[in-house]
Amino acid sequence: MTGPLLEVAGLVKHFPVRRGVLGLVSGHVRAVDGIDIHLNEGETLAIVGESGCGKSTVGRLVLRLIEPTAGTVRFEDVDLLALGATAMRARRQRLQVIFQDPYASLNPRMTVGAMLGEPLMLHGLAGDQGQRRVRVAELLELVGLRPDHARRYPHEFSGGQRQRLAIARALAVEPKLIVADEPVSALDVSIQAQVINLMRSLQRRFGLSYIFISHDLAVVKHIADRIAVMYLGKIVETATTDELFRSPRHPYTRALLAAVPLPDPTAVRERALLEGDIPSATAPPPGCRFHTRCRFARESCRRDEPQLVNDSQGSDTTHATACPWWQEIPPPPAPPEATGQNQDRIRLDRLQAAFVSAQEAT
Ligand SMILES: Nc1ncnc2c1ncn2[C@@H]1O[C@H](COP(=O)(O)OP(=O)(O)OP(=O)(O)O)[C@@H](O)[C@H]1O
Ligand code: SF4
Ligand SMILES: [Mg+2]
Repeated sequence: MTGPLLEVAGLVKHFPVRRGVLGLVSGHVRAVDGIDIHLNEGETLAIVGESGCGKSTVGRLVLRLIEPTAGTVRFEDVDLLALGATAMRARRQRLQVIFQDPYASLNPRMTVGAMLGEPLMLHGLAGDQGQRRVRVAELLELVGLRPDHARRYPHEFSGGQRQRLAIARALAVEPKLIVADEPVSALDVSIQAQVINLMRSLQRRFGLSYIFISHDLAVVKHIADRIAVMYLGKIVETATTDELFRSPRHPYTRALLAAVPLPDPTAVRERALLEGDIPSATAPPPGCRFHTRCRFARESCRRDEPQLVNDSQGSDTTHATACPWWQEIPPPPAPPEATGQNQDRIRLDRLQAAFVSAQEAT
């Protein structure tokens, strides 16, 4: 392999909107509207943004569960979109997915042993029944469960354990890339940390790559090497995780940082940063899509669409921003009492709360 593990270019997905009894197409939801991403072996890229911005659609496109309107998806130097059904089925072994709700994706009538044995059989990975049993036991131990759990059914497990089962099933076929779509969003915070730690240790052990989709930057901070922030079908900022938390540039990223008021006099003004509804993805605003909610918007923002420009400074060579004005925008004021570690903590709490409240609002 010469290039990155995954290389996505100019990816577009427009869903037709149908109206009336005849089902005539009356418009398109521009769920993903021209994005580029790349991912190296052993790396985690997080995709974050408010509900409806197109995160899951990107994941489904990468897995080729849906066909794009335009763009290319190269995985292990192979153009996935050029593969026929048989070749794609074989390739899918290398690309797995974990969803938010493991219960919905686990067959309630199958024992764990049968569920984990099935992909092994389908992909010819374990010869006879005996070998399969050994491999199932191995998989269960890898995700922190016991071999005797193979006899149980999904409903006999807790939410965190069920997500471990979903991870075991993904691992069964020895994938290179796992798309994890909100994998811990339904779990309690303490269980979230356990599942994240498990994912990290499996990544180190097997050299896995993850696309980690989440509305929760606080979670993403613990697992991502790089983050792409999405808004209405576009990536508005991307950088290494450290860099994005240290110096967010795009007004949207910054607004998310400051969106939840603290009990101090500046709170009201900061709240104003993310007011207004997310515009419809059927008719996104012209120019910069964020201009209807951006307090730094100027005339040209309503007209000219900003490109995602790599304007790296310092050590991070991947920092790109889709706002030509970011250098002129003052950083949000830090609360006076917050310094060092404490500042990070407060910022993180606000981020987490910002994303949670953004989801609840929809
Ligand atoms: N099959 C579909 N047909 C029509 N519109 C769709 C379809 N799937 C998604 N959409 C629309 O595309 C947009 C992006 O949806 P997507 O599920 O990718 O967002 P998301 O960022 O994953 O949101 P969430 O955080 O709520 O999961 C939304 O406006 C959604 O309504
Ligand atoms: S381009 Fe204009 S509207 Fe868009 S984020 Fe930058 S300042 Fe705001
Ligand atoms: Mg989603």
